[in-house]
Amino acid sequence: MSSVGSVEVVGQVGILTIDNPPVNALGHAVRAALFDGLKTLIANAQVKGIVLTCADRTFFAGADISELGQPFREPGLNEVFDLLENREKPVVAAIFGTALGGGLETALACHRRIAVPSAKVGLPEVHLGVLPGAGGTQRLPRLVGVEAALDIITSGKSIAAKKALGLGLIDKLAEEGRLREDAIAYCEALIAENATAPLDRVRDRQDKVEAARGKPEIYAEFLKKNARAFRGFKAPFNIVKAVEAAAELDFDAGIKREWELFDELVQSTESAAQRYFFFAERSTTKVPDIGKDVKPLPINSVGVLGAGTMGGGITMNFLNAGIPVTLVETNQAALDRGIGVIRKNYENTAAKGRMTQEQVEQRMALITPSLSKGDLGEVDLIIEAVFEEMGLKKEIFGELDKIAKKGAILASNTSFLDLNEIASATSRPEDVIGLHFFSPANIMRLLEVVRGAETRPEVVATGMNLGKIIGKVPVLSGVCPGFIANRVMAVRGYAADQLVLEGPTPQAIDKALYDYGFAMGPFAMIDLVGLDVIGRGSNERTLYGDLVALDRLGQKKNGGFYDYDENRRATPSPVAAKVIADFAAFKGAQTRGDITDEEIVATTLYPVVNEAAKVLEEGIALRASDIDVACILGYNWPVYTGGPMFWADTVGLPKIVEGLKAMGMEPAKLLVEKAQSGGSFTR
Ligand code: 3HC
Ligand code: NAI
Repeated sequence: MSSVGSVEVVGQVGILTIDNPPVNALGHAVRAALFDGLKTLIANAQVKGIVLTCADRTFFAGADISELGQPFREPGLNEVFDLLENREKPVVAAIFGTALGGGLETALACHRRIAVPSAKVGLPEVHLGVLPGAGGTQRLPRLVGVEAALDIITSGKSIAAKKALGLGLIDKLAEEGRLREDAIAYCEALIAENATAPLDRVRDRQDKVEAARGKPEIYAEFLKKNARAFRGFKAPFNIVKAVEAAAELDFDAGIKREWELFDELVQSTESAAQRYFFFAERSTTKVPDIGKDVKPLPINSVGVLGAGTMGGGITMNFLNAGIPVTLVETNQAALDRGIGVIRKNYENTAAKGRMTQEQVEQRMALITPSLSKGDLGEVDLIIEAVFEEMGLKKEIFGELDKIAKKGAILASNTSFLDLNEIASATSRPEDVIGLHFFSPANIMRLLEVVRGAETRPEVVATGMNLGKIIGKVPVLSGVCPGFIANRVMAVRGYAADQLVLEGPTPQAIDKALYDYGFAMGPFAMIDLVGLDVIGRGSNERTLYGDLVALDRLGQKKNGGFYDYDENRRATPSPVAAKVIADFAAFKGAQTRGDITDEEIVATTLYPVVNEAAKVLEEGIALRASDIDVACILGYNWPVYTGGPMFWADTVGLPKIVEGLKAMGMEPAKLLVEKAQSGGSFTR
């Protein structure tokens, strides 16, 4: 046998075990080992049934993602499945950990499936912009029915073993820790059953798909119901077609159709972008000058200063991880309000059935409310989330320096301020770091970890390790105004503010960016946030200031760039149009002629690419893919375009350089260099 596979025989049962860490991905070597191992066991006359399982931490977690889209190497999974689906010897998949994608498809090609209760199964291919291409779209509906299959495959969600048993996706639960023994016993029972009549195979079953045959409305309704979630993605539409094929065609024709639909997806830019993002998200924690020998510090207790919008959300992250938080405010009313919001958030979750009341109380009990910073003397990490004012932040860090225990980490959640200046207010800048959460902080997955000029490696490693503890994706940033995501995305706003003075309406600009894939355009976004947040306090005349002067604050008062009805439905605003025209005249802005959506996208997003190139050039971001991860997770940049850097590569860097020049902008040095040398940011 090869190094990744081994066989043994126990009585009548042959056991084939694959060992390919870390997750037993079904790359070429594994497929070859499966093929050889099955042939060996099928040829062995003593063996009457087979148990297929894996070593280490999980059953196969899917195809090897890095092989997708690459030239194919035999044997393919379907050849392995032909062996699994043999008529003579029943095969049992013994599942633990996560049986995902091609891993679950392998299990579906076995005659039966047994799993421990802690196991999870699922078909997450949709997150990679593809569909289950090894029979998953044809076999799953035959086991669970068309409706459940559509839901499972288009959502990509993992299903716990118990639920999978209820759905008919697996056949039996093993006792936790006794998978091997239970799987052998199950296989022995099946050997006896098979001796009287050959076991059925999933591919032969029709009972669950018959009900859906000749009913195209099922798919039309499903697509309509999910129109919002599927917008911009390609894979969900091909998945629906493939599942329909499972109901309408015989198995072999269905497999052929599945393959065509898979192939179309795997060749698409959308899938390339999503696969890139899979690895990009996992590479953010690799910091070149911080090796594995630098150990993160333990975080067993946290202090949070400020129970406002951010402080509250930040606190929830730690409560969710079972870490106690001392929450400090300046006055009782603010403290009560902050804690009240946290409780309300949890109770809303409980009302939706996603948490029990007992869990709500357990989490709330982890908060120690306080009106004194003096209570933070023993915590391992203090996160400051007070108003965005340098004077206040320096005063607070000066006080914390005297209060915090030696070695405690002092973190700021500042959005734009200079972390080094904040650190200078302490006698221990090596313990100061930025932990920049995104709003709502309990939900958004991005955490920018800001490394100050003097931050020591252990403190950086601890910040990066917080991702694991509180379920965020940490991205390391150097110090600059706005750090990575805010800095590069602010440029989109400036470009839109300028463009709206040149003729295109707010709705035209918003529509172009919505169609590109953003959840909303910049003007709808400003109306939601409130124009007063940006419009007040400037000495110069600004467009926002002119709208605020008319008491147009956005959705919350009198409308902003749009008018709103009582259901918050937006309509174009003649008042805003006049304010824009007057301001454009005041600025002497040149009106441009008709502009296409593509030009709007270029005008607003090429500058983002340019700023991102500067962020990379200055060493603020470690790698281009970190910038993409920050924009996708912090600003909902559409993942199927891969983020600004990946997208720039698909557009072509010379085209972007030319576009920037035509707008009168100077392209970043790094961008020009790469454009001239035929280089790229992400390939
Ligand atoms: N292919 C290649 N590498 C993979 C992989 C896969 N399917 N799954 C995980 N890895 C790698 C990761 O990149 C990571 O590598 P690194 O250590 O060098 O960064 C390492 O394995 C460990 O992964 P995680 O850090 O994600 O480990 P976790 O324990 O947090 O999670 C997991 C484990 C739940 C299995 C998670 O890795 C995961 O969701 N993997 C992807 C599952 C998936 O999408 N499967 C479908 C693949 S496509 C397919 O099967 C097509 C088929 O239909 C033909
Ligand atoms: P906020 O106004 O909602 O909350 C600030 C809270 O700090 C208030 O409750 C206030 O009473 C309290 N506070 C003020 N001085 C204090 C002190 N000396 N001790 C203890 N508490 C004190 O502000 P928000 O939005 O939560 O912002 C906080 C910080 O987070 C700012 O630095 C901001 O730039 C940053 N940030 C904000 C984001 C957002 O979207 N709102 C996103 C990311 C960062």
